[in-house]
Amino acid sequence: MSTEKRSSFTGKIGFVLAAAGSAVGLGNIWRFPYLAAKYGGGIFLLVYIILALTFGFTLMTAEIALGRKTGQSAIGAFKKLNKKFSFVGILASLVPIIILPYYSVIGGWVTKFLWVFSSGNMEAATNADYFGNFIGSVWEPIGWFALFLGLTALIVFFGVEKGVEKVSKFMMPILVVLTLFIAIYSMFLPGAIDGVKHYIIPDFSEVTLSSLAKTILGAMGQMFYSMSLAMGIMITYGSYMKKDVHIEKSVHQIEWFDTGIAFLAGLMVVPASYALNNGQVDKGPGLMFSTLPRVFSQMKGGAVVGALFFLLVLFAALTSSISLMETVVSIIKDKFGGNRKLICSIVMVGSFALGLPSALGFSAWSHVTILGKDILTFIDDTTNQFIMPIVALFTCILIGFCLKPKVIIEEVEQTGTFKMKGFFSFFIRYVAPVFSILILASSVLIEF
Ligand code: TRP
Repeated sequence: MSTEKRSSFTGKIGFVLAAAGSAVGLGNIWRFPYLAAKYGGGIFLLVYIILALTFGFTLMTAEIALGRKTGQSAIGAFKKLNKKFSFVGILASLVPIIILPYYSVIGGWVTKFLWVFSSGNMEAATNADYFGNFIGSVWEPIGWFALFLGLTALIVFFGVEKGVEKVSKFMMPILVVLTLFIAIYSMFLPGAIDGVKHYIIPDFSEVTLSSLAKTILGAMGQMFYSMSLAMGIMITYGSYMKKDVHIEKSVHQIEWFDTGIAFLAGLMVVPASYALNNGQVDKGPGLMFSTLPRVFSQMKGGAVVGALFFLLVLFAALTSSISLMETVVSIIKDKFGGNRKLICSIVMVGSFALGLPSALGFSAWSHVTILGKDILTFIDDTTNQFIMPIVALFTCILIGFCLKPKVIIEEVEQTGTFKMKGFFSFFIRYVAPVFSILILASSVLIEF
């Protein structure tokens, strides 16, 4: 553990912006829409919103309060609170190590599309096979992956995250406005309105128990991923939070912001994909990349809008990947000590090696599937549907039964009242653990 005094976020809005910056990323813009398409549109949306406002709220409040109370990041925090729960901190810390590599693979795809649009080749990208051919080629995706990862490492290496954060502070609002604009445009494409209905209105007629279980499982994994929960991130953020910031209010702001952007991103791609493919929606990780170029090509000035869009998404992805890499570097530094720059270089090389299978999973290794999934999707699902629910489960047990919810409530009430404290105590003791166990059991059943 470093003995330096922990720096803290300046001002009340500083915390919310920083946490929202971590939460909003490719998870909202790339991952959410394709999952919504995959798991039946309206049903997924409904389940997701309910989960985010209940489970997500509870866990985020708990993690931030734990961090602020202990003043430490995940490994230290769990150890300090209860020695027996040390493994939870370690498990949580594994998640960023696993996510960073494949996150960078997707970051590479975004970088490639920014390049395509800004070099005036939009028309090429509108071909229905363009994206498939791109990820199906062996070297190109690896090159863009290396570029994105290298860029992330460079920023962390020279410690210029602050600069990037400053830029992204004004990029983020522009991204929101642009996404809104593209979403409205997409909704008015001929035939898109049926896609909008499919996306927003739950269709219960085709729901079966097993499809509902899969939808809940998918939504739950997405909630962890998108809100950066059950991986120690919010504990670390909480440890930098000043005592005068109201945790409950901040959590509400972050959850609504994060969910709102995901909703808009879905509105931007799902109906458009529906319209452009005659009532069929792309359901894989390529959804955004195969649909958006075709939307832009129908738009006046679409090349410019497209280039701007991918630039903004690149920034959102970079702030997340920087924060992921920072986390990995500090986990290693806390554990083994050593020089920050050296660790940063090791993390870069290690992440490149770990990310290669994900990148190759669509080309040279596309014949390799694990439980019927490509490598990237397998890794993605495993972290979101196994490791994170386990971390969530033990976090809830620790707080609900060993420490008692009072500890968290007291921490929140350092600044005003905790309005949902009754809900919080009940949920963290009885609902969240049961739910986590059910989720784990059903993911075992579904996957095997
Ligand atoms: N929540 C981020 C997103 O939606 C992804 C993410 C997961 C992340 N873990 C993180 C970002 C840790 C920063 C730090 O894209």
